[in-house]
Amino acid sequence: PVVAVVVVAAGSGTRLGAAEPKAFVPVRGRSILEHALSGVFLMADAAQVVVVAPAERLEVARELAERVAGPAAAHVTVVAGGDTRQQSVEAGLAVLEPGIEIVLVHDSARAFTPASQFEAVVAGVRATGGGVIPGLAVADTIKQLDWTGAVERTVDRSQLVAVQTPQGFPREGLLAAYATANEDYTDDAAVFAAAGLPVTVVDGDPLAFKITTPWDLRRAEAIVDENAP
Ligand code: C5P
Repeated sequence: PVVAVVVVAAGSGTRLGAAEPKAFVPVRGRSILEHALSGVFLMADAAQVVVVAPAERLEVARELAERVAGPAAAHVTVVAGGDTRQQSVEAGLAVLEPGIEIVLVHDSARAFTPASQFEAVVAGVRATGGGVIPGLAVADTIKQLDWTGAVERTVDRSQLVAVQTPQGFPREGLLAAYATANEDYTDDAAVFAAAGLPVTVVDGDPLAFKITTPWDLRRAEAIVDENAP
């Protein structure tokens, strides 16, 4: 394959309030990671899939990934994550196969991201040669606060997008950007842009929301129920 998808699933999920790491929390009997990988393997073109899992869950993550991958299991790699998301991504980038040209980085917590979103991001990277991220218009009015917490101004939301994953990049640029990153960024596009490389936005999908809170988990269950036969 020329495309790799790094699925980061090594977070603790503190905000979800569950006893297990977030990727292993079940949604109607299947873990968040299993739901996420099902979408990844629906991509039309074969990809290397790198699962970045908590160190103490590597074996279960490997079994699960190979089962979901089926015949594509030859290109599944499972590695241990780090203390921050950025470190987890770096662990994934360290095991890319030699022929990979385009790298997508995806949050396992965005478990219901449609395969079409992965394909749109890959197509965008091919077309632009730069970074490509899915984004949605912002529905709420956004205020900027001063240091006391008082409202300073209203931000023009027509210029804002709420950003999702997968975020796609040419391999070489992404590796160079990660090698020189010197602060903790909240997404991969920020690492890429900090290296002076261009990033553009394609339309995201509400289904690619990140499961973060207990309320998100109920929304996830509703999605599974709607799609049940
Ligand atoms: O914490 P947050 O929801 O922003 O994490 C986004 C994604 O990054 C999740 O899929 C989570 O599993 C992953 N992550 C990770 N390693 C960390 C922290 C987060 O793989 N140390």
